[in-house]
Amino acid sequence: MLVSSSKIVEIGELGDERGYLAVLEQNKLLPFEINRVFYIYKTSPGVRRGFHAHYKTRQALVCVSGACKVYLDNTIRKTDVLLDSPRKVLILEPSDWHEMYDFSPDCVLLVLASHLYDPEDYIRDYDQFLEVYGG
Ligand code: TYD
Repeated sequence: MLVSSSKIVEIGELGDERGYLAVLEQNKLLPFEINRVFYIYKTSPGVRRGFHAHYKTRQALVCVSGACKVYLDNTIRKTDVLLDSPRKVLILEPSDWHEMYDFSPDCVLLVLASHLYDPEDYIRDYDQFLEVYGG
């Protein structure tokens, strides 16, 4: 259980003899409107990526295939989250410094984001992150 507002939510299971279907709708399970979708795949072994927080972008991360871990740091708590199911969604708040790692070879990490891509919305310097969110 995460102590900050970033949290894991479970998508309800819609399955029958044909297989499974998972749904994410904006302003329902996702607490924001979706303006951008990207996915990370064919990650090289041992790679760790991310290393940033945001000013305003909220995101939802789900491994639609395979698994990976996400390290989260909101200056008060540091924790690691395992995304190992297409039903497990990490609602990631802008104030969480995050790093993704331990990607399985078949991992496809889908990311739904509240804002269009804007390099100005990234905090890539950890000291600056502490200044902005460190209280
Ligand atoms: P990068 O921020 O390095 O990925 P990560 O945070 O996972 O380590 O992004 C890789 C490249 O993709 C970089 O040149 C920026 C670009 N990019 C976009 O053009 N649009 C996007 O929505 C994202 C997420 C990245």
